[in-house]
Amino acid sequence: MLRDRFARAIRAAAASLSIPLPDESPDPRLEASKRADLGDFQCNAAMALAKGAGKNPRDVAQAIVAAANSPEIGIEDLAESINAKSIAGPGFINIRLRADLLGALLGRLDSPALGIEPPASPETVVVDLCGVNLAKQMHVGHIRATVIGDAVARMFERLGQRVVRQNHVGDWGLNIAMVVMKVREEAASGRLSLGTLTLGDLDRLYKQAQREASPDKWGLATVREFGLGPKAAAELEEQVGGAEDAIARAKATLVRLQARDPEVEAIWKRIYDLTMADCLANCGRLHASVTAEASAGESSYADELGAVVDDLLARGIAEPSEGAVVVRVEGIAEPCLIRKSDGGFLYATTDIAAIRRRVQRLGAARVVYCVDIRQSLHFRQVFGAAIKAGYARVAEPEKQRPERDAVLQHAAFGMILGEDGTPFKTRSGENVRLADFIDEAVERGRAIVRAKSPDLPEEEAARIGEVAGIAAIKYADLSGDRTRDYVFSMDKLITFEGDTGPYLLYALVRVKGIFRQAAEAGSLPSDEALAAAPIRITEPSEKALALHLLTYPAVLAGAAESCEPHRVCAFAYELASLYSSFYDACPVLKAGDEATRLSRLRLCALTGRVLGDALQSVGIPTLERM
Ligand code: ARG
Repeated sequence: MLRDRFARAIRAAAASLSIPLPDESPDPRLEASKRADLGDFQCNAAMALAKGAGKNPRDVAQAIVAAANSPEIGIEDLAESINAKSIAGPGFINIRLRADLLGALLGRLDSPALGIEPPASPETVVVDLCGVNLAKQMHVGHIRATVIGDAVARMFERLGQRVVRQNHVGDWGLNIAMVVMKVREEAASGRLSLGTLTLGDLDRLYKQAQREASPDKWGLATVREFGLGPKAAAELEEQVGGAEDAIARAKATLVRLQARDPEVEAIWKRIYDLTMADCLANCGRLHASVTAEASAGESSYADELGAVVDDLLARGIAEPSEGAVVVRVEGIAEPCLIRKSDGGFLYATTDIAAIRRRVQRLGAARVVYCVDIRQSLHFRQVFGAAIKAGYARVAEPEKQRPERDAVLQHAAFGMILGEDGTPFKTRSGENVRLADFIDEAVERGRAIVRAKSPDLPEEEAARIGEVAGIAAIKYADLSGDRTRDYVFSMDKLITFEGDTGPYLLYALVRVKGIFRQAAEAGSLPSDEALAAAPIRITEPSEKALALHLLTYPAVLAGAAESCEPHRVCAFAYELASLYSSFYDACPVLKAGDEATRLSRLRLCALTGRVLGDALQSVGIPTLERM
């Protein structure tokens, strides 16, 4: 509201001083004031305006103030008197909101939707998350693609968009065929039985297959060059030959898999089911919504790839290059390879087909990819190729909007580091299994809850501890700028102090606790009385809390737009600390008069609802009691 009024005041002031304005709606450069004693906001537009026109900035500020007070603009319903004394320094205009305005705005925020109005026509947002690979245990690296992806999906859901999650499972290609082949051979030789196969077996066989298929050509060349003797050469020759043989067998398996040969497919399906059961269990424990229905693996695109490449070739979008097929994307030096010279398709081909399906079939106006930052080039290429091909074009004939492409966003994330600053690993240098990692967080959460509240019944302590542990690791993953690597420390996260998940859960429980206290004292107002109580903002700490609460809808919308859950986390943390300053400074249940008591109780209730909503909007599970 202020921005709109001040934009109009600036236009009027510019007209009166004959300053030409390049822009119909000038930016009033409004900022939250850094000095609460001077005002709540500042309008910083006068300086730039004066500079361009060679005028005195204080005169320009004066003209803006005069225009703001004119009957046409009438700022007095929003701000307390703005006059010559409001102008500071070279021409800043200090603005103090009217006290009754804040109360009225909070009253409006205090609706079931918390000021977040559903869009007139919801958009479909596809969120690509999790992205596990077949036959491999999920490790700690997968937590980011799952937790950040789920948070992004939840934010859009909260804003009223139609969200479709897509778990782009790595379940196709030569690597997968290699494991299928390995399992088939092991089963045939009686070394394992399909019925009792575990994900642990698969993980081991996957690595073994990889090793067997890596020809040490470089080693062989070295042996020959440096004349390291016939024995070494013979050994390596055998290994190279073996690898070539393994690759040839894997390729044959892939061909059978692609032809849906029942025997090979049954093994593949068994591997798929084992991997997905583990994946969905981990996601469930992380309180992240990833389901079997929301999983569309690479295999689901396999039959479309040939047609995609043919289509792109036919329309001149793709071109042959040394026997292979590539798409050249403007501004990217590396061409995007979509078919190898041996006819095989690539990760990129599948992702181009996926964009086509997501936009054309699922109706996405936006597709967000929560994937490791090291895949940035891949996504730039794939987005560029899909747009060039017209696959990302949004069809909205009914909306009479100009044609446009879906928004394709790579919500990239950095690595998790151990406390020594190198990638997070176990002591023996292995990747940390996600399941073990979750176990440890839950165990630690339970330990701290037991230590803090020894009187809680065991079952309840276990449940609360689990939520605290999960909230801790999720909050740690969500609260930093996602593009940065972050150092992970269980000790620093699973504590009730500082910027941590458990602290925020506790803050929320404390806000709600005041209503339990009121109930125990027999002075709990009815819901109707509370909802009807006018909110009166008088104390500075109340005002700071009120101003922050009012930013919630815009914070959430902005965080979703840029796929940055950390902005919601920062909002929640700041809200908790402003609440605690308010609580220290302003008596609530013991307020001097009934009107103040009700006003403050309503402010507490609103704070609790907004805090809970913020945490849930990014997927942090909350608690009623701790
Ligand atoms: N499975 C892939 C990996 O482990 C992640 C998939 C990401 N999503 C996508 N559409 N490419 O790297």
